[in-house]
Amino acid sequence: MKDIVLSGIRSTGNLHLGNYLGAVKNFVKMQHDNDCLFFIADYHSLTTHPTPENLNKGVRQVLVEYLAAGLDPEKSTIYIQSDVPEIAELYLLLNMNAYLGELERTTSFKDKARQNPNNVNAGLLTYPVLMAADIIIHHADKVPVGKDQEQNLEMARKFARRFNNMYKVDYFKEPVAYNFGNELVKVPGLDGSGKMGKSEGNGIYLADEEKVIRKKIMRAVTDSGPTEPNSVMPEPIQNLFTIMDIVSTPDTVQHFKDSYNKCEIRYGDLKKQLAEDVVKVIAPINARINEIDADNDYLKKVAKQGAERARENAIKTVREVREIIGIKKLW
Ligand code: TRP
Repeated sequence: MKDIVLSGIRSTGNLHLGNYLGAVKNFVKMQHDNDCLFFIADYHSLTTHPTPENLNKGVRQVLVEYLAAGLDPEKSTIYIQSDVPEIAELYLLLNMNAYLGELERTTSFKDKARQNPNNVNAGLLTYPVLMAADIIIHHADKVPVGKDQEQNLEMARKFARRFNNMYKVDYFKEPVAYNFGNELVKVPGLDGSGKMGKSEGNGIYLADEEKVIRKKIMRAVTDSGPTEPNSVMPEPIQNLFTIMDIVSTPDTVQHFKDSYNKCEIRYGDLKKQLAEDVVKVIAPINARINEIDADNDYLKKVAKQGAERARENAIKTVREVREIIGIKKLW
């Protein structure tokens, strides 16, 4: 039997190069030797109160971009979280055994509460419970996620274990974090520090056209260049090299490293080459985004098929959980 792999992305904003290289590209590879489920976490995105229009658009956009990036609805189950209402029921049931203290101690909750003190809603608090429901409703073995989600995954394991202990069953599996080749790719942004993020405005998007990509890269933060041979790279320059390491050939990277070390580097040339190689990665995806975006019937078909498959599993799990808990008529 193949392993069950499951992961989700919240429907907030377009996918950027970091999402693609760090996550979706690996999802595409995993499709070959695992039973994969990939979904769009629209319930989760409600914690930040999107308008109905934005919610709708965001969900559609992630679906388009998932497909354009190579997720294959014939190989994987691709669905929208809210199309599977059984997840909401399992979330309710798991909430009964999730404790205020442990939820309040979660790093992502504390961060979000600090960033947005006026919107510390209960959905934010119980975010890890919903995430656990997402995962264990499909009895997933492996969950490809970034470092920032490891604690949430740890909690999913805890909730699964707690359910098993409470009802003295061996029902839920404990999912493990999974990263393709054990390497976590962190893609830095173009503004000189930190990683590429949806909200940081420093990103290159899969939906960006070629000339936009070139313009963004040519404008990336640099400095006046090294004055001593073999000097340590400042962060903005290191970041450009980090992206180059991922998208360019080793020869190209070496060439620019050598010219940096000899203080002969011209950042304009480096950026031109980097733009060329980033465009090579994104252009084919971008073309498919436009194609798929124009085919509403196809999108509806994919979503419907995904929902049907995902629900089949989910309905079975919730039926079994109800039985274990005692939600059945004994009279
Ligand atoms: N919390 C994840 C994120 O912000 C998204 C997510 C929701 C998820 N449910 C999940 C990821 C289940 C993996 C498995 O990136």
